[in-house]
Amino acid sequence: MVNKNILLCVSGGIAVYKAVALTSKLSQAGFNVKVIMTESAMEFVTPLTFQAMSRNDVYTDTFDEKDSSKIAHIDLADWADLVLIAPATANVLGKLANGIADDMITTTLLATTAPVWAAPAMNVHMYSHPAVLKNIDVLHERGVQFVEPSEGFLACGYVGKGRLEEPEKITQIITEYFSKRKERLLEGKKVLITAGPTREKIDPVRFFTNHSSGKMGYAIAKKAAEAGAEVTLISGPVSLSSTPGVTTIKTETAEEMYQAVMKYFHDSDVVIKSAAVADYRPVQTNEQKMKKKDGSLILEFERTTDILKTLGEQKKHQILIGFAAETEQLETYALNKLKSKNADLIVGNNIMTEGAGFGTETNAVTFFRKDGTAAELPLQTKDQVAEALISEVHHLLQERLT
Ligand code: PMT
Repeated sequence: MVNKNILLCVSGGIAVYKAVALTSKLSQAGFNVKVIMTESAMEFVTPLTFQAMSRNDVYTDTFDEKDSSKIAHIDLADWADLVLIAPATANVLGKLANGIADDMITTTLLATTAPVWAAPAMNVHMYSHPAVLKNIDVLHERGVQFVEPSEGFLACGYVGKGRLEEPEKITQIITEYFSKRKERLLEGKKVLITAGPTREKIDPVRFFTNHSSGKMGYAIAKKAAEAGAEVTLISGPVSLSSTPGVTTIKTETAEEMYQAVMKYFHDSDVVIKSAAVADYRPVQTNEQKMKKKDGSLILEFERTTDILKTLGEQKKHQILIGFAAETEQLETYALNKLKSKNADLIVGNNIMTEGAGFGTETNAVTFFRKDGTAAELPLQTKDQVAEALISEVHHLLQERLT
């Protein structure tokens, strides 16, 4: 981790003493560490301790400019390869979530474009307070990554979640983050992904849908973002939380998903369509709840727009990847889709395989390529399938260059 700069922002809680050990562990791992402290943090430990551990000046006051040729908080914001807030108190999280900049840490946090990580530490009830949880959600959506606090004895006397994660563990997480960034296979690429089911309304209380949970598509979005891509995820209704660093657009019907996809398609380099889009929707949506009557009910359905097919007809430079969820004849149907939708790759998903397909944590897929070859992957987690797909996308992009 030589030549990687970590800006450690220490806010005021009893866990400041652990931030001293964290400074030491990060330095031992080879990072250059500079520390900013809030006034409250200085109530617990002096700046001199952090100075000795980091072998760098410690910053505590926005107006205490050590070098007249620089503005310290801007200079530090630019210097950092990663900003780590540890411990992150409820106060600093609240300020950052609301754009408040009233001290050295918060002004620097607003000025930086480096990835920001936060390791919260506070009383168990503070950590579960709706205001704190909301601020964490807001920051999460803006791309801040969190090292969750661990459970155990808290300095306030409570036992519960709120302890700053151990310095060794935080150092390991940050080191792994930088190691993974080395494999940024999709750096500079714009990737559009669809995930989840669609819902086609029958009346205000009933809809036509399928079992897609969105897990596969969200895993692809996460891995694409980790690989350095600028990711837009068009999601059907799912109960998953948004992924940091991914622009997530929520849609409900096949038509809404189609409109959203078309908005981003022309500007995308890669499109991955893992959503399970309804092929049919009711011709009529009843405005009032339908009342039951004697006898059977016949509803008339009409075709939705085939989004993948439309993209295949309009694609120019884009790499287009479709999925095929099949219960039989996977190869025949997948190859048919590859051709009829003018896709560059079809991810065949035999949903009859135990542990594969809708709602599961794992998946078993086969990549059907345009050159006639196929790669059958073993049953593995959806994250692993997503990683394999990102690597396949990278090969397809490389092929375009040769
Ligand atoms: O969400 P999970 O629970 O994790 O489950 C993952 C999954 C099983 C949904 C996923 O792995 C998968 O297989 N997705 C595709 C499901 C599907 O609808 O397949 P299909 O064979 O019906 O559609 C073929 C392709 O056309 C798909 O890329 C689909 O997004 C696309 N399509 C379908 C209909 C339509 N109107 N427009 C489309 O673009």
